[in-house]
Formats: sequence, C-alpha cells, structure tokens
Amino acid sequence: MAKPKVFVTRIVPEKGLSLVRDFCEADIWQDEMPPSRADLLARVRDVDGLLSLLTDKIDAELMDAAPRLKVISNMAVGVDNVDVAAATARRIPVGNTPGVLTDATADHAFALMLSAARRIVEGEKYVRAGKWITWHPQLLLGADFAGATLGIIGFGRIGQAVAKRAQGFDLHVIYHDPSARPAYGATPTDLGTLLRESDFISLHVPLTEQTRHMINAETLRKMKPNAILVNTARGPVVDSQALYIALKSKQIFAAALDVTEPEPLPVDSPLLELDNCLIVPHLGSASRQTRDEMSFLAAQNLIAGLKGERLPNCVNPQLYD
Ligand code: DGY
Repeated sequence: MAKPKVFVTRIVPEKGLSLVRDFCEADIWQDEMPPSRADLLARVRDVDGLLSLLTDKIDAELMDAAPRLKVISNMAVGVDNVDVAAATARRIPVGNTPGVLTDATADHAFALMLSAARRIVEGEKYVRAGKWITWHPQLLLGADFAGATLGIIGFGRIGQAVAKRAQGFDLHVIYHDPSARPAYGATPTDLGTLLRESDFISLHVPLTEQTRHMINAETLRKMKPNAILVNTARGPVVDSQALYIALKSKQIFAAALDVTEPEPLPVDSPLLELDNCLIVPHLGSASRQTRDEMSFLAAQNLIAGLKGERLPNCVNPQLYD
C-alpha cells in the first residue's frame, strides 16, 4: 500500500523525523529559512499531512490549496500561526506539542528573570569592552529575588512551572488567570493588582485577540519603577513601541524578551539600543531533549491523523464529539 504523503517544513530532530519517514513518503524542506508562501502553497498541493512550525502561516487559503489534507501537526505548543477555526470548519484536526516543553520554557523564563535582575548581559559586555578596571561598591547594581513579588500572567502548565521554581527563590507569587486554580503557593489576583504589586512580571498566555498587546502603554504605566518584565509567551502580547518608551524613560527597570514582534527582530529595532532590554531569539524550548520530544510528539500527532485516529494532542478535539 502506498505511504501517505506529507510535507515537513524544516529539518526537525531525528527522533521525530525517523518516525515520519517510517510511516510516510516525506517531503522535507531542507533550507535553514522557512519555505516562502509560494513554496508552501506549492508543496502542500497533494499532501495528506503537514508537519509545520511556528514560522509557517497555516490559513484557510493554504488548507484549500491542499484538498487531500487530513491533519496539521504543529511542532509547538502555541498554535497562533494556524487558523484553527478554518481547520475545524474543514474537519482537519490540528495537533500541538504541550507538556514536553514546560520545564525548558519555565527554566528559560527564570534564566531571563535572573539575567535581567542581576544585569548579566550588561556585565558581560562591560568585561569584553575592557571596562572592568576595579571592583566598585556601586557597579551594575541589580534586584533581589528573596522577598520580592513575582506576578505570573497566564497560569497554565508553564506559568505553574515558573511558580514552582519561584518557591526555591523565596519569591512571593501572585498570578492572574481566571481559569486556573492556585498551585505552588501562588495567590490569584486581578490584573490591575498584579501589575501594581509585582517586582517581576512573567507572561505565559497564548496569543489570542484578547491577549494581543495586553502589555501596552496603559498596563506598563501601572507597573512599579523597579518592575522587570519577562516575555517567553508570544511577541505580540507586548506592544513593543510602548515597551520601548517605558524602558527608555526608566518607567520600568528592565525587560527580558525571548519573543518579539516581529520575529526575527529587525537589527534596527530601537529596543536593541537599550541596555535595560535583554533579547534572545525565541529559545524557550531550545534544549536538545525538549526539541527531540517536541518532534516526536509532532510526528505522533501527524501519524495518528493520517490513520484517522484521535491525535494524542489535539487543539480542536470537538471534531471527535
Ligand atoms: C511553542 O512551542 O509554542 C514555543 O514557543 C516554541 O519554543
């Protein structure tokens, strides 16, 4: 029997790729850069399955260009690059990769929080620039963790894993997420209170129409002058222009961004001029084991969909009702 045809939009880790190759006739995009829109539309024309990444826009037009498409497997927990409603309307299940990246992303949020608080990147640049001529009691002073308040916006798996880590640093943790129950000693609160009381604010919401630019001029104005904002969620949750103004004018102390709007951040972005803005290139889940597991889960979702079985992780499970 002929194997189902699939398009894989980049070379993902071998753990997932070998599973895909075993079960499918796989067309795997070889470039480091993602396929262009035209390439993507052309390559999905006769596929049964698609393994996509967060860099690929999977919308109604693409689904209509792929009349045989039975499953979309996105190798990410976030699916804001996929029009899930359009997929549901076409009865195409959409898979994602939650769980396997929770610890890596929470670790990364903590790494960013610590780096911004203790001015690690500024210190490193200072040494490399040959400016380290003596120990000085006022050099590059940062913020303390013990006793400070951490506000977590979005208290799903990753937000909770951040709260769990915060216990070891003696942080007082509050969170805003109307749909989540308290865990790891964190106390629920409304958004306004969280913004006003937090010394650190870590974002863990998915990108939706409700969360787009939820951190804006108005919400930034409510934050403390010593506040440190950490974003490992999605770039557009923060209004970059408003953040630039808040950081430049020292309205808040610092920001540490794993994600930006747009991605990649243009080299002439004003945010890159600021010493109090630490930016890394969307590395939240970038540990070897995590990416192996993400690719494996994405392959499992893909294959289940091709077999007409329920995806192990499906974001439109109503298709199975
Ligand atoms: C995800 O899975 O959504 C992450 O952003 C990838 O690092």
